[in-house]
Amino acid sequence: MRKLNLQVPLNISSLVPYPPGKPIEELERELGISGSIKLASNENPLGPSRKAVEAAAGALAGLHRYPDGSCYYLKEKLSSLLGVSAGMIILGNGSNEIIELLIRAFVRPGDEAVMGEPSFAVYPIAVKAAGGVARAVPLERMRHDLDAMASAINSRTKLVFVANPNNPTGTMVDQAAVDRFVAQVPDNVVTVFDEAYMELLEPGIQVDTVKHVKAGKKPVITLRTFSKAYGLAGLRVGYALAQPDAIDLLNKVRQPFNVTAMAQAAAVAALEDEEYLVASRQMLREGRRQLMDGMRKLGLEPVESVTNFILFPFKKAAGLTAALTKRKVIVRPMAGFGLPEHVRVSVGTAKENAQFLRALSEALIELK
Ligand SMILES: Cc1ncc(COP(=O)(O)O)c(C=O)c1O
Repeated sequence: MRKLNLQVPLNISSLVPYPPGKPIEELERELGISGSIKLASNENPLGPSRKAVEAAAGALAGLHRYPDGSCYYLKEKLSSLLGVSAGMIILGNGSNEIIELLIRAFVRPGDEAVMGEPSFAVYPIAVKAAGGVARAVPLERMRHDLDAMASAINSRTKLVFVANPNNPTGTMVDQAAVDRFVAQVPDNVVTVFDEAYMELLEPGIQVDTVKHVKAGKKPVITLRTFSKAYGLAGLRVGYALAQPDAIDLLNKVRQPFNVTAMAQAAAVAALEDEEYLVASRQMLREGRRQLMDGMRKLGLEPVESVTNFILFPFKKAAGLTAALTKRKVIVRPMAGFGLPEHVRVSVGTAKENAQFLRALSEALIELK
């Protein structure tokens, strides 16, 4: 292939892109297998809410129109559910887009963003792409070390990312730790609590960061998504809650029609489908137990997870991933997250979890 003679900035050419999984169909074609299950992207194994699917289908007749650029109805719904004004909400093409918007709005070349390590792999990529510095603070026993993160803040720090629960460890920091951290962070640094998995948690252990957003004493931003508990990963819709001045800033740097009409309609319906959320939590509770027990029985030491994926250490992680794929189970090797000797498995249906455990026991024998 001809090499392009472009003048690419070093912060871009040196990036290692986020490694997306291959489509199942392609993987199966390459390996000559069929009937694989994907436990690799922390999706909702229940399938989408029927009400959400109907609402998305209802939006199809209007596909010749641009979507509502203000996401009026979705904001109204979120506003009444969460007790914040519509002016404190911004919708994005997945919460991923909002991470990008935050960096575009706050990080100039040379500025810093503090984050855990390992944490969501998109943060350092997006910060470096903007010419910023990703200040990675090692986790402490697989949990965010919030004191160390507060100490890593300096005069160049613009943003702090706290994924809670954290991906890929599945661990969380509790309300008291979060409250203490908010008090520690200086007034001119934006703290982003990325709560992609929060609604999957039992209400009793959920952490309330929205109270800090509402209080408005510190620039706190809460990120949520419809990709996990609400089962709409394929539609790409997420949101942030923040004080109106921060929302105004983010609106300045977003595309005018960033959330599709189908996504908006489905998200409104998903918020109205309480039964689906309850069923999702129940499937997760049972499935996580099934996986944890099964993996321990096989001699593995999975990290105790509060959410819908489980990280476990394994020396020959790449070999294990390949051995599982051959047995029709796709999991996520963690080298891209800086953990070459770990594997992450998402919690599936009871049947999928059993298929994983069967494949795992065979693969462990093969790799002995
Ligand atoms: C911690 C974390 N934040 C954000 C996201 C992105 O979610 P979305 O689908 O809303 O872009 C993910 C997805 O895996 C995640 O794990």
